[in-house]
Parts: sequence; structure tokens; C-alpha cells
Amino acid sequence: MQFSIFKNQLSSWQGRSLIVGLNKYEIDSQLKEIDFIVEPNEIKKKFKNNNFEGEIGSSISLNILGHNLEFLSIIGLGDKNKMNSDVLRNSLSECIRKVIDKEEKIGILMPWEELNNNAIYDIAEILRLSSYKDNRFNKHRDEKINLKEIEFLNLENIENISFKEVEDICQGVEFARRLVAAPPNDLTPLEMSKKAIEIANKHNLEIQILEEKDCLNLGMGAYLAVAKGSNLKPKFIHMTYRPENSVSHKVALVGKGLTFDSGGYNLKVGASQIEMMKYDMGGSAAVLGAAKAIGALKPKGVEIHFIVAACENMINGLAMHPGDVITASNGKTIEVNNTDAEGRLTLADALTYASNLKPNTIIDLATLTGACLIALGNDVAGMWSNNDELAKELLEASLKKGEGLWRMPLQNSYKDGLKSHIADMKNTGPRAGGSITAALFLEEFFDSNINWAHIDIAGTCWTDKNKGLNPSGATGYGVRTLIDWIKSKEKV
Ligand code: BES
Ligand code: MG
Ligand code: ZN
Repeated sequence: MQFSIFKNQLSSWQGRSLIVGLNKYEIDSQLKEIDFIVEPNEIKKKFKNNNFEGEIGSSISLNILGHNLEFLSIIGLGDKNKMNSDVLRNSLSECIRKVIDKEEKIGILMPWEELNNNAIYDIAEILRLSSYKDNRFNKHRDEKINLKEIEFLNLENIENISFKEVEDICQGVEFARRLVAAPPNDLTPLEMSKKAIEIANKHNLEIQILEEKDCLNLGMGAYLAVAKGSNLKPKFIHMTYRPENSVSHKVALVGKGLTFDSGGYNLKVGASQIEMMKYDMGGSAAVLGAAKAIGALKPKGVEIHFIVAACENMINGLAMHPGDVITASNGKTIEVNNTDAEGRLTLADALTYASNLKPNTIIDLATLTGACLIALGNDVAGMWSNNDELAKELLEASLKKGEGLWRMPLQNSYKDGLKSHIADMKNTGPRAGGSITAALFLEEFFDSNINWAHIDIAGTCWTDKNKGLNPSGATGYGVRTLIDWIKSKEKV
């Protein structure tokens, strides 16, 4: 998708489809801008018939006769003092979805002076991400996108604007969406490692794929215990971005990478949606999506490690038994009282590995618990952190990007729930507070001096219906928040 600024007189604009944003109390003056297309009075008559008053979140689509315009969509931005980016996101997404299969080009006209400086980039990001479609697996259904070009109108005072950053970030999100949406027979651990290698080659990142024997040498007994129940070999991915000059902040991003989670011998039955467990690699998709974007953006002063312990949780004769005791690479022993709590086992070794790199910050993302999905639903991910500053920064980044995030407690008293009679700990606590004990479990596997945040995306990595800038399906949740946070660490 191409973004450009239309610098000439608006009346010479040639497109057939236009989206216009209107502030509630300035409708008259703003309608003057488009009076070459339609008589303001005529539009206002239509507004009246449809009870449209420019209220926040309201929108109206008009068929325009006369001018070469065919589709005019008006979005109510409400009171300009109460502008809310969520509303902008929802209404723009809805409008654009109506035209993606029809028009090649659309124009967008906003009261730019009322919006903040980044509005144009935010809007570009919203338009691009909401007009995403994935037709890789439906060979006979014709769901094409015709939309190729978006022109921003009435911005003639803006100089030298570049959409490269928006483009890079969106490519990262779309990459993550494609990974998550791919079925488990397509996106295997091997395939995921190949995708990572492609990113590394394209953007000059360092990459290392640790094979099963390498992981064995590192003592990764927790990760390998999960992986051995599958006939597919595990692939431990470690990609590194090093900035050109000095490093002021070193980060490790760790993603849960279960390309399928059957539950193991604690098989997922009943309403547990085993058929959806291809998305159990949503955390690693966010991490690899971020790697793709970072590789293109090349931020200054931040060294970033991207870590994924990819495997499947399956059942064969070698699979973990419920009750097994295994040893993680930091020497701690774990009684596996539930083979379906496999994500934390893979993360145990991935976090230990990350910790040994001595980063300032570790952020892990994981579709870790159904309990988090129950607690916060599909629009909000849970976040646990041992550091208030980091938590605050991540909440700010997520708010800016409209990726719901809520801080949850690392309730120390719940650690009791992980006590084992036979090993250092169990992998599963009681049902109540299940996403908290999962976070407490993870905390056992890295140096406690490292600032750490864990983001449980079990609810947010997938949406069954169109929601804001996410068309139904994989959301690519996390990429934009991660990139925004990393940019805040940049030393220019
Ligand atoms: N991948 C699941 C968590 C999950 C559930 C993600 C639903 C998305 C939607 C994870 O491996 C899992 O099975 N967790 C168990 C933990 C339990 C056994 C303590 C769960 O949440 O039921
Ligand atoms: Mg599981
Ligand atoms: Zn899982």
C-alpha cells in the first residue's frame, strides 16, 4: 500500500472515494472544504435525515451524485477537546473495510490542525493494518484487495514526510499475523526457524538456531521434555540486533513458540478449543515480527536479542508423563503435574538462556493461560513485572498503540501453590489465580536483578470478528507496543 500527500488544490483531486473526519462543533467550516464536491446544505440535509451530528464514533456513508466521487464517508470526531484515538481507530477501520475491494485509491481529509503531530502516521498505520487480508490458504475464494493507494489531502504545509517507519512497523505486524494464522502442519518449528533465518538474512541480523543436541548440552531439560513428545524436532531460535555504535540498553525479547499445543497426556478436551492451538506461538510471532521491524528500523543504542524455544506439545511414546520430574537449565527441578502447562516449561529454559546474556530488560510474551483470557477477555493482555518503571513504560506504549494491557500482581503468597513434595516446584498451581501462579513460576528462571515483564496474550493474539484495526483472525498483538517501547529506549 502506497501513502502519499496530495499537494494541489483539493478541487483537482481525481479520486472516487473519500473519507472525511469532522469535529462536532465545526461542521460548517469543515464542510466548506469539500463544497466543490457537494453543496454543504445538501450534505447537511442528509446528516439531518440520518441523525448525524458529528458525535464521536458516529459515521455516515453517502452516495454522491454529480462529481466524479462515488463513495464519501464522514466520520464524527466529536468534541475536538475530547479526541480519542480508540474511536478514530474504530471508525477509520470500519470505513476502510467498506472500500478495500472496490477502490484502488482513496483520499483522506481530516481537521489536521486539531490532531496531534503523529496523527498522520497513526492514521496510515490504522488504514494499512485494517485493510489486511490473508488469502494464502483459500485458493478458490476470490477475496481480493484492490486498494493500493491512500492520499492525504489538505496537508500542503507538510514537508519531507516519509512513511517508511509506518511501513516497517506494519510489515512486522503482518508478518506476525501470518505466522499465527498459518496452520500447525504448515508452520512447524522447522518452518519457523526458516522464517527467522529469512529475516536475519534480509536485515543483517545475527542468528543462531540451536538444535536438540545443543539444547541438551545446555541442560534445557524443561524445554526438551515438552519437545520430545513430538516427532518434529525442536528449534531454539536466537537472533540478535546490534546497533552500529555504542549500546546503552540491552534487551531480550522472549516469545512462547508452541506451533501446536495438544495439551500432551493432559489432552485438551471438551471446550478447550484444541483446534485453535496453532496460535500458541503468538508470543514468538510478536517477537519475530518485532525482529523484522527492528531489522528495518535499526534503532540506535539498543541491543536486542530475540529468543524463541520453538516446539510442539504432542503425544507419543516418549512424551512427558503427568508426574515426571524434569530439570531446567538453571538446575531447578520441576514436577510436571500437568503436561498442558507446557509453555512455562519452554519459557523456563528460554528465560534462563536470556538471563545468561545479562540484559538490562527481559520482556516475554506468551499465550500462557486460559485463566488470563477469562480474567481480561480478548481486548486486554495481562502484564506482570518486577519493576514499576518498566511496567509504566509498557502501559504507556500500549495505550498509545491501542493494544489493551493491564498490570496484574505478582502475588507472592500464591507461590505456595507451586510447592511440590518431590521437586523444587510443580509446574501448575490451583485453578484460582492461574495466570498469576504462571507468572510466579516464570520468575524462578532469571536473575532477579534484571527488569522483567511478562505479557500473557492468550486472549489478544486472535480475534473471531473484525475489531478496530484487526480484521478477524490473527492480530499480531504486541509488535507495535514492543517497537514503541524500544523506540523510547533509543539513544539518538
Ligand atoms: N496454550 C495454553 C493457554 C491458552 C488457553 C491459550 C486458551 C489460549 C487460549 C496453555 O499451554 C495451557 O494449556 N495452559 C493451561 C494451564 C493449566 C493446565 C494450569 C490452561 O490455561 O488451561
Ligand atoms: Mg498447554
Ligand atoms: Zn500452550
